[in-house]
Amino acid sequence: MNRFNPEESNGRDNVVPLNKETVIALWPYSKNDLEVDKEAHATERGKIKGLVELFVNCWFLFILVLLFNHFEFINLLSYVGGVVVLIVLPLFSLLRGFTHIKLNRNGIGFYQYDTSTDTARKSIPWSFVQEFYVNANPKRDVLAGYLCVKEKTGTVHKIKLRQIGEREQWHDLIRAIDEWSGVSSSKLDPHLFDATEIDKNSPSYTMLWLEALSAPPERARLNPLTPDVRICDGKYTLVRQIGAGGQGSAYLARSTDGTQVVLKEYILPIYVDIKVRKQAIERFQHEAEILRGLKHESVVRLIHHFIEDHRAYLVLEYVDGETLQSLVEKKTPIPMTEIVEYALLLCDVLLYLQAKQPPVVHGDFTPDNIMVTKDGRVKLIDFMVACEVDPESKGNSSLAGKPSYMAPEQFRGCRSVQSDIYAFGATLYFLITGKEPEPITQLHPILDREDCTVVLEEIVAGCTEQAMEMRVVCMEDVLKKLHTER
Ligand SMILES: Nc1ncnc2c1ncn2[C@@H]1O[C@H](COP(=O)(O)OP(=O)(O)O)[C@@H](O)[C@H]1O
Ligand SMILES: [Mg+2]
Repeated sequence: MNRFNPEESNGRDNVVPLNKETVIALWPYSKNDLEVDKEAHATERGKIKGLVELFVNCWFLFILVLLFNHFEFINLLSYVGGVVVLIVLPLFSLLRGFTHIKLNRNGIGFYQYDTSTDTARKSIPWSFVQEFYVNANPKRDVLAGYLCVKEKTGTVHKIKLRQIGEREQWHDLIRAIDEWSGVSSSKLDPHLFDATEIDKNSPSYTMLWLEALSAPPERARLNPLTPDVRICDGKYTLVRQIGAGGQGSAYLARSTDGTQVVLKEYILPIYVDIKVRKQAIERFQHEAEILRGLKHESVVRLIHHFIEDHRAYLVLEYVDGETLQSLVEKKTPIPMTEIVEYALLLCDVLLYLQAKQPPVVHGDFTPDNIMVTKDGRVKLIDFMVACEVDPESKGNSSLAGKPSYMAPEQFRGCRSVQSDIYAFGATLYFLITGKEPEPITQLHPILDREDCTVVLEEIVAGCTEQAMEMRVVCMEDVLKKLHTER
């Protein structure tokens, strides 16, 4: 059996190894500054330099006092001048930003040239780093923004992008992050690669993975597995294909204990750099991890996950039913009483996701990803674009989802629990009217269906408010309103 081995070479790993340490000098400093300074402080020269500075400052103060003593009315000013020179200026120099960054296999260190020590002002081991991302105003040049290093504790260290300056430094920095951090550099704004003229086609960058994935001709040529194929050491026997998506197929399979399961497959790219392949696995593991943390009767249960033959599989409980999409297409119009029951179940599952710590955003909450069983229960599937969000932040994401169900902020690459509330409203509209919702439009089902109640109209309109701050915030209120409809 050809199990996937992430360390296996594919003949393209011809990247020159990095030096032991990468030093990035922030404008207007140079790499040498830090070295010279280090050397100076290593010897007595550093201390002498400090004493000379103090001596000069004292003289400066003395001359100020002498000068201003002749003018009584500005006597006070001379003292203020002295305080500025002796206390405020040195303090200011301490508080001023970092001048150098050093990265090595242990972590990232922020240095300040001209302080009397050569140890980092702040050093963070890689295991403490949560993510790297770019914080830039989309209306302005990306280089006017900041590169942010977020620690797991939530502390964020910012570096002005413009201060990184030369292209070589960018190269060094991104390579060092890629090589050592173990943190996916996919959070780096793709515009950065353009702005810094870094070669997107270099296999060590996330861009390649994104491009490889979004190339449809590649996927069309992939063969789905055929019935009776046995995988995972014979543990699962394929019965039939039940779905075909962007990343791979979904199959119905039989487990050795006789139970039916669904194998959701992800085709992993092979002819790309090892890092790109690692990132593909990361993405797969991300869905698995989110699902593993969820236990709710309306969320599909993850049984197991594995990688085999360059394909990654999630083993899911089999939901014997159909998607809400196909149910509505076949059965429209669905009685309003039945719709209220579905709405209650969907509301309940959203409340569960939002109550998680940190909250989970499904990100693709659509009738295609909601399955309905024969006895009328619902199961949320497809957590591929799901994420955990920091409740304090507005969230961020890549553009993914079905436009009719996407909240306006999702089109801007922003996603939060509010976006799932929007998708809930749009899904409810589809259930009531049987019509595909108009994208980026507040929805009013009462205009399309006469027997739609005022309460349901209010819920749909409230959830599909375009502005996030106007939209329904609390699903508890929706739940209460829905109960009055029973
Ligand atoms: N656990 C499951 N039980 C039954 N059918 C499933 C299950 N998971 C997925 N499917 C079927 O496979 C299709 C695709 O699955 P989904 O997870 O939505 O993947 P994607 O949309 O990324 O291709 C679904 O629309 C559904 O018909
Ligand atoms: Mg889907």
